[in-house]
Amino acid sequence: VDVRLAMTGFGNVGQGVAQLLAEHRDEYKARYGVRLLLTGAADRGGAAVDPAGLDERTLLRAKQERGSVSASGQEQTGVVGEEFLVNSRANVFIEAASTNFVDAEPGWSLIRSALSLDMDIVMASKGALVLYYSELMELARSRGKTVAYSATIGAPLPILELTNRALVGTTILGFEGVLNGTSNVILQAMIEGNSYDDGVRAAQELGIAETDPTLDVDGWDAAAKAAIVANAAFGSALGIEDVVRQGIRGITPEDIQAATREGSTLKLVSTASRRDGVVVAEVRVERRGPTDPLGRLRGPEMGVVMHADPLGDFTATVENSGGVTGGIATAFTVLRDVLNLARSQGWNSSRPA
Ligand SMILES: NC(=O)c1ccc[n+]([C@@H]2O[C@H](COP(=O)([O-])OP(=O)(O)OC[C@H]3O[C@@H](n4cnc5c(N)ncnc54)[C@H](OP(=O)(O)O)[C@@H]3O)[C@@H](O)[C@H]2O)c1
Repeated sequence: VDVRLAMTGFGNVGQGVAQLLAEHRDEYKARYGVRLLLTGAADRGGAAVDPAGLDERTLLRAKQERGSVSASGQEQTGVVGEEFLVNSRANVFIEAASTNFVDAEPGWSLIRSALSLDMDIVMASKGALVLYYSELMELARSRGKTVAYSATIGAPLPILELTNRALVGTTILGFEGVLNGTSNVILQAMIEGNSYDDGVRAAQELGIAETDPTLDVDGWDAAAKAAIVANAAFGSALGIEDVVRQGIRGITPEDIQAATREGSTLKLVSTASRRDGVVVAEVRVERRGPTDPLGRLRGPEMGVVMHADPLGDFTATVENSGGVTGGIATAFTVLRDVLNLARSQGWNSSRPA
């Protein structure tokens, strides 16, 4: 069966999705019984739309050579709004554009349009999840649609797989996670004697820095992730403003050296727990020892520890990922959500999408 995908954003993540679709379409079809077609792609320059499926390699070339998918020569429209979604005839809307924590646009408007058009949603951008969480989930529920968002919280970590499946039936007491790769890369650079600015550049080269890196270094991204994971773990409806937030901007070489002297490293940790029935979420810089599951993470590696009663601590980390970080790792996670959605909805050869 064909599953049609419309996607906004054609940066690190969007291009990764296009690349994976081009390389793995036949394999996914053989393994999961669904043929994934990219029927709409958009960036700030406009959109390309073809309900029969765009050619991803042509899109990637157009982006590289001419700056926008809209220059691909494929059937196109310059409008990136509801018309884009309607014309794509997509089953799933993938939101992978840059976002903000002020109005969550352009994602939020398009997500609402997509839900009204009976599309399921797969999100890489966090804005709408931390500004309009309750409204978003209620809207999806009322339309009978799914909102999948594994890619927003330390992709490719299987965090929602823990909260929504593995730990069902336990009581999650709290979690702690190193979920902002950029801060980790900067701290690592400083530990190795390089400057803060060197660290920012290294993160940008890895494709993991936010379009606006202040969202990373001031703890906003880590705070958003703390809220999103807390809501999944505890059924709360925290927004980004509910998270007590510290960033790494004020960390000095002296702070780093003091930690190194005691054999520890500094990590930006996103954490939340339930205290007396109230969910408290926080982002803070902490010293972690070399054998600690979060302390041993290097560079862009990420991890989470969930404390579950009565089973104990569950740890998920991504290590030794070679060059597969940032946009490509996130793109894998976006497609994991798409494929799981297809499987959970029985979109195989016996039922049309
Ligand atoms: N990179 C990661 O490791 C990672 C991990 C998890 C989640 N995310 C999230 O995924 C999203 C994309 O990240 P990224 O790394 O791919 O960012 P990026 O490389 O900066 O790309 C952002 C894309 O969004 C497009 N865009 C911005 N405003 C738009 C608008 N109004 N309409 C249509 N397209 C618009 C940009 O268009 P132009 O190309 O024309 O500028 C660009 O293609 C972000 O929300 C980010 O927080 C990223």
